[in-house]
Amino acid sequence: MARDPVRVLVTGAAGQIGYAIVPMVARGVMLGPDQPVILHMLDIEPAAEALKGVKMELIDAAFPLLKGIIATTDVVEACMGVNIAVMVGGFPRKEGMERKDVMSRNVSIYKAQASALEKHAAPDCKVLVVANPANTNALILKEFAPSIPQKHITCLTRLDHNRALGQISQRLDVEVSDVKNVIIWGNHSSTQYPDVNHATVKTSSGEKPVRELVADDKWLNGDFITTVQQRGAAIIKARKLSSALSAASAACDHIRDWVLGTPKGTWVSMGVYSDGSYGIPPGLIYSFPVTCEKGKWSIVQGLKIDEFSRGKMDATAKELMEEKSLAYSCLN
Ligand code: NAD
Ligand code: LMR
Repeated sequence: MARDPVRVLVTGAAGQIGYAIVPMVARGVMLGPDQPVILHMLDIEPAAEALKGVKMELIDAAFPLLKGIIATTDVVEACMGVNIAVMVGGFPRKEGMERKDVMSRNVSIYKAQASALEKHAAPDCKVLVVANPANTNALILKEFAPSIPQKHITCLTRLDHNRALGQISQRLDVEVSDVKNVIIWGNHSSTQYPDVNHATVKTSSGEKPVRELVADDKWLNGDFITTVQQRGAAIIKARKLSSALSAASAACDHIRDWVLGTPKGTWVSMGVYSDGSYGIPPGLIYSFPVTCEKGKWSIVQGLKIDEFSRGKMDATAKELMEEKSLAYSCLN
């Protein structure tokens, strides 16, 4: 029997990530090859013409799974009945800026769009915030949309997770799909902590710890961490634009695993509302290792945390607390 289409909202759809992600959604990369979709695309008035162009291209691509397209600058029309909301709209960081620098412009957008989502999205809507500062925008969205269940509001740290997998695969010259269970703790910023203490690689003689195979703690505790933390800035330096294809792909990975489930024995990183796990203060959207089943995520429990990790996990939590108060001061 044909499935009902899922309504997927992409805000900032005329921008770089928007342009990369909408064909992925329409091709089934996000929700699977058998799931029809209706795309809701939102942008602002100055980008209305460009948005029209994206709609024309989507029509021209004749995607069999794409059952409808709404391209609008009206936030209410955009949010109406959506099941998945990918919040990309906002202002990207430019060379030399920290993510905090885009704070004042972006948090007010998330406060305003929170109410539209709360009032008009489908009751089961799953929200992924991509726009920076991603964790704090998601927190503001959560706080100004109190009727959306807090477990339905998340932010993107899967890009950082995938970057960590990529660095390990390059270093060991192994397939990236054979590396698993890295963790991104904390903020999608340069204080994030990419942790390989529980990560493994599939080899012909079974799964082996990444630490044992790399056999270079200096690299794993040093350059590996800073490379992942600084990768966004390195892309901006090289492209003069922030990452887009990898961000779009990671956003699809995030939603796909959340909706369809993580493979057995594998976890992924998602920015989610802290419940106090691992001593991280509640009241923050913090990236944790999670597994997903039947559309629900759960934080992986019981991982051993050494002193080095503890310091880094607390430092990124501290930055998030500072961002939270800065966000509120911007909104006041
Ligand atoms: P972009 O400037 O190319 O596109 C952003 C789009 O958002 C523009 O079309 C703009 O008109 C639109 N927009 C602005 N205000 C809006 C509003 N109120 N409602 C709807 N749309 C609005 O930027 P981009 O490169 O696509 O990046 C988008 C965001 O994603 C930036 O904040 C960037 O820093 C962030 N980002 C996050 C990650 C991550 O891993 N979390 C990765 C890459 C980029
Ligand atoms: C990224 O990580 O590539 C994005 O968040 C863009 C940025 O500002 O670093």
